[in-house]
Amino acid sequence: MRVVHLADEDDFEGWRDSARALAQGRVPPSEIVWQVGNAATDLFGDEAVLVPAAPTAFRVPRTFLDLAQTVVLHSDPQRFALLYTLLAGLIATPRRIDDAADPLVQRLEEMAKAVRRDVHKMRAFLRFREVHDDQGERYVAWFEPEHHIVRANARFFVDRFANMRWSILTPARALHWDGETLAEGPGATKADAPGDDPVEDVWKTYYASIFNPARLKTGMMLKEMPRKYWKNMPETALVKELVATARQRETGMVAKARSAIGGNIAAAWQKLREEAAGCTRCHLYKHATQTVFGEGPVDARMMFVGEQPGDQEDIAGRPFVGPAGQIFDRAIGAAGIDRAGVYVTNAVKHFKFEPRGKRRIHAKPDAGEISACRWWYEQERLLVKPEMTVALGATAARQMLGKVVTISGTRGKAIELTEGGLGWVTIHPSFLLRMPDKSRAEEEFAAFVEDLKGAAKALG
Ligand code: URA
Repeated sequence: MRVVHLADEDDFEGWRDSARALAQGRVPPSEIVWQVGNAATDLFGDEAVLVPAAPTAFRVPRTFLDLAQTVVLHSDPQRFALLYTLLAGLIATPRRIDDAADPLVQRLEEMAKAVRRDVHKMRAFLRFREVHDDQGERYVAWFEPEHHIVRANARFFVDRFANMRWSILTPARALHWDGETLAEGPGATKADAPGDDPVEDVWKTYYASIFNPARLKTGMMLKEMPRKYWKNMPETALVKELVATARQRETGMVAKARSAIGGNIAAAWQKLREEAAGCTRCHLYKHATQTVFGEGPVDARMMFVGEQPGDQEDIAGRPFVGPAGQIFDRAIGAAGIDRAGVYVTNAVKHFKFEPRGKRRIHAKPDAGEISACRWWYEQERLLVKPEMTVALGATAARQMLGKVVTISGTRGKAIELTEGGLGWVTIHPSFLLRMPDKSRAEEEFAAFVEDLKGAAKALG
């Protein structure tokens, strides 16, 4: 039996380096014990001899490493072993990672999804309270994550609150930012975090100003904001009153509140776009000209999601400007939707193609590529917070709903999205481009326009 000691619960590098050496030595998963920290190992036998005498080289898909990086943060103690089992399987069958029906791939994807949800919750529900120390004001927040996400999420808070001095306390560790340096401290308890204080009034005012009655769905709110988080959030004291007065507040309020915070969101979006320009989360960046990021107002109420940029979009660096884009423009125009007022993006942000002579023929993104790109899609959604998201075609629907669906089974009806807002599925405009029968294409175009009108109407 080999025992691998990992430095910490979120020690991805440690897992990766050990897993690589063990896999090079073709050590079977059943012979490895993965252990966090330095607890006694006699129970298990020999220490691992990690570097084999005659290593056998292998390559694994980049999408696997991305998946592993996320799954390592899961709280399931079996995660390291499960990842190694898949790694060992990929050496023989690299395409296994794209097999959405493979139970191990499915299980790991589910774990990655749970981690991403926890990351999102920490970003959305963490609340700072103001305290004063000898250097002035400091903001302190208490948060109880379900997974080992705190370190991985640190950069987000540093970027967001760069000019504040803050501490985030969690049961496993604390993060402290002094405006220049990020430091780690030991775990804390809720009693270590400040309770009620004046800054809560600021949060309450802020929350009341961004509260969007048009999105008010109490069931959804509970689902998205589990009670576990409610107890830490001063603004939940307001929810009852907000629900009661939601209707009166609907008109005009949303626009006003959004323009008040619009400056920051626009800057955050610009930063995100710049980060995405250097994206190497999957291999598609290698052959595409550039990342084609979403575009449109960051306070748009409606977001459209396509599949991936095509040949012309890849060159122009903008979504939906080629032939499919022309149909899209015509259809939304016919549905009374102004493109200048909506946010348009794609599920996958790099063009995937197969070269044929001088031409580049569109190739469908696979499960790994869609999931690697989910990061950008989720970040865009966090900033734009659309009230209605229209998925154009099956790939977009998969990204939006986090699972494979059929167009026929989901088309043309409002779907409540777990992260808030409504979703709507319709066809991809290039479906119309491919139709040889003109009169059928016209019928389908009309049905497409009806779908878009339905989405606009559901938005209100
Ligand atoms: N097809 C898409 O899905 N998106 C684009 O941006 C262009 C074509």
